[in-house]
Amino acid sequence: MKTILVTGGAGFIGSNFIRLILDSEPDYFVINLDKLTYAGNLGNLLGIEEKYPKRYVFVHGDICDEMILTKIFTDHDIDFIVNFAAESHVDRSILQPNLFIETNVLGSANLLNVAKTTWKERFDSKRFLQVSTDEVYGTLPEDNPEIKFTESTPIQPHSPYSASKASADLLAQAYFDTFGFPVLITRCSNNYGPYQFPEKLIPLMINNAVNDKQLPVYGDGKNIRDWLYVQDHCEAILAVLQSGKLGDVYNIGGNNEIKNIDIVTMILDYLGKPHSLIKYVTDRLGHDRRYAIDASKIKNELDWEPKFQFSEQIGTTIDWYLSNTEWMENVISGEYQKYYDLMYSGR
Ligand code: NAD
Ligand code: TYD
Repeated sequence: MKTILVTGGAGFIGSNFIRLILDSEPDYFVINLDKLTYAGNLGNLLGIEEKYPKRYVFVHGDICDEMILTKIFTDHDIDFIVNFAAESHVDRSILQPNLFIETNVLGSANLLNVAKTTWKERFDSKRFLQVSTDEVYGTLPEDNPEIKFTESTPIQPHSPYSASKASADLLAQAYFDTFGFPVLITRCSNNYGPYQFPEKLIPLMINNAVNDKQLPVYGDGKNIRDWLYVQDHCEAILAVLQSGKLGDVYNIGGNNEIKNIDIVTMILDYLGKPHSLIKYVTDRLGHDRRYAIDASKIKNELDWEPKFQFSEQIGTTIDWYLSNTEWMENVISGEYQKYYDLMYSGR
């Protein structure tokens, strides 16, 4: 049996990852440590405790809390750590940068320290995977589609979010270089799929369109992201965790660059809603123009490539939100409305 500590497992990608592990790796025991911030929701893992009573446990706690981490490491013989826990939304990082520094930098450092101490420098067969993002590389020119982010592209983050993620990556790499601590880093492009919090582009636009609300497109709508279905991301993380080379970075991407405005119109067309719902609004500060991942390393070394096609999965994703209205109602009650008004009213 392998024991895996998943942090941030009640969020969008973490919950999809936990479901993948429990369904596909029968000899893994999963500990999910999550602070349950506005983005964390045990509704993302409904039925998991009943389905896997002997292989799953939830711990409510903060990665910044050294005591809780030490207790988890004392109570369990942990083999693998996958650190998803983070503040993950660029717009919120513009409003509250310090929160991002606390969780994404100090929290990750705390996790590295406690793991290093309790593993007592005996790292054989141990693995710590830091889930990072392509946003650490900064932005790409849109007039040169040949250029993509590779693992050796210099780090040049622009938002407080991406700067905090880059900081955690550098710390993780420093722990590998200095202590031989068994680190792996993945840098993935934009994910979409079930259970994504509706502050992010795709679920926000679906929810607004369904409710005949305006769809706020930043700037000219021509910013480009490289979209990957969440299950593909989770499978890539598992491949890196099990077979990646320690100390290495692995880029993960969908080879699927799309302009924001094209996604928004696709959503409206799928739902049979008018394009007049689109409202161009003031651009995001420091808005990166284009992200694109060169994922040839993970394909060549670990034989991973995306299985899912955007043209099909965007429909599956919209259908998922349409048939999970209770989930949506639950996550947009409370804090969400205040956030939405603060971010969008009068914009
Ligand atoms: P999310 O915001 O949906 O979930 C984050 C989770 O972390 C939530 O469950 C939250 O409660 C938890 N959390 C926050 N602070 C915590 C703390 N201090 N201690 C413990 N738990 C805490 O985020 P997501 O979209 O699922 O992203 C997960 C990870 O993947 C993040 O590290 C993010 O940077 C990275 N990532 C995301 C994307 C994307 O497109 N969403 C792409 C690449 C990388
Ligand atoms: P987002 O989902 O926040 O992901 P990220 O900023 O991490 O790439 O945004 C994706 C793109 O969509 C980004 O270019 C910003 C844009 N966007 C809008 O135009 N309107 C919105 O309301 C949101 C949330 C995002």
